[in-house]
Amino acid sequence: MATPRKTIWTLEPHSKGKHLVLQAYLKAWLPIISSWNKRILFIDGFAGPGVYEHGEDGSPIIALQTFQQHANLKHTDFEITFYFIEKDEARKENLNSLVDQLKPTLPGSFHIHIEQSRFDESLTDALDEIDAQNQRLAPCFAMIDPFSVSDTPMSLIERILRNNASEVYISVMYEWINRFKEHENFEKHLDSLFGCVEWRNGIEINNSGERKTFLFNLYKSQLKKAGAKYVVHFELFESNRLVYAIFFGTKHLTGCDRMKQAIWKVAPFGDFAFRGTHSEQLTLSLEFSDFTPLIRAIQTKFEGKGWIDIQQILDYVMSDETDFHSAQVKTKALRQMEEKGLIEIDESSRKRKKSYPTGTKLRIV
Ligand SMILES: C[S@@+](CC[C@H](N)C(=O)[O-])C[C@H]1O[C@@H](n2cnc3c(N)ncnc32)[C@H](O)[C@@H]1O
Repeated sequence: MATPRKTIWTLEPHSKGKHLVLQAYLKAWLPIISSWNKRILFIDGFAGPGVYEHGEDGSPIIALQTFQQHANLKHTDFEITFYFIEKDEARKENLNSLVDQLKPTLPGSFHIHIEQSRFDESLTDALDEIDAQNQRLAPCFAMIDPFSVSDTPMSLIERILRNNASEVYISVMYEWINRFKEHENFEKHLDSLFGCVEWRNGIEINNSGERKTFLFNLYKSQLKKAGAKYVVHFELFESNRLVYAIFFGTKHLTGCDRMKQAIWKVAPFGDFAFRGTHSEQLTLSLEFSDFTPLIRAIQTKFEGKGWIDIQQILDYVMSDETDFHSAQVKTKALRQMEEKGLIEIDESSRKRKKSYPTGTKLRIV
């Protein structure tokens, strides 16, 4: 993706995909997070001008409006701080004026800070101050959405993830990594992006698919070292060209599951493609109806394990070990598996045929 020079640029289809997933996830995230926390933080570290050329909303406005529209707000007393960071003065000013227009309609529990600064500098200062006061960063959702690969150090992501409830949604500009030799000082940027030097072993791999797998697996494992327990990644394509990948890191199984639900909900619509991580070339589309990869994954995982509780299957599918989510387990996998004789159900663990309530015991045949 070329870096736009204009203050406001055209929204490309893949960025639209990123926004739709963000919006669907935030709708699901707010009820979860607000049930255990009274103060939450939304960071948009590369906030942009808040609008695109044809009037489409940018990520800070999407976040404000999604939270505003959330029915839960009427019933809870939690506070949300929005921390928008944007380096470019004209873009920051544009965002400022859009937020000013929205402010009269926003609840008093919304606190909005817009800063013209660099993400890494600004957040490092804020975290240093929090550390100096012996306090803790509030549970946060941090969107980290740069144009390139600089200024997004893994060391900073590790600091964000120190809070158990924090989550990160990071765009990794694969095209930039791929073209790294064309840029000055790129080693330094990639050392900081990955938080290690091992990316050098991947960058020279000739086969493009293997190179991508190596570099994405490395980024994923570095995010896990930085504190994410689950990492969901999806790739945004334009025709056959991989433009960038989004990595979502969380410590919570439910967060991981909800992110995958958001992707499944959004994926079939629009001029962009999402591809999954685990199922070879799993391109989600409107016609997607063959859940054989999910069935196979369940069989492989639990074959030979004897009687298991349905919760073990749900936990596995919800985790980052599959591209699927919990709502697909019963209707898209277990029912078919039972019809085909691929599973045996302990009838004493359920009251009705073809139902799979909590506590159902089954085994792979
Ligand atoms: C991909 S755009 C963000 C788009 C926005 N998140 C959205 O989805 O609507 C990246 C933005 O980051 C800004 N930027 C570039 N380097 C930055 C840095 N180091 N810190 C903060 N902002 C930066 C750019 O000016 C640009 O507006």
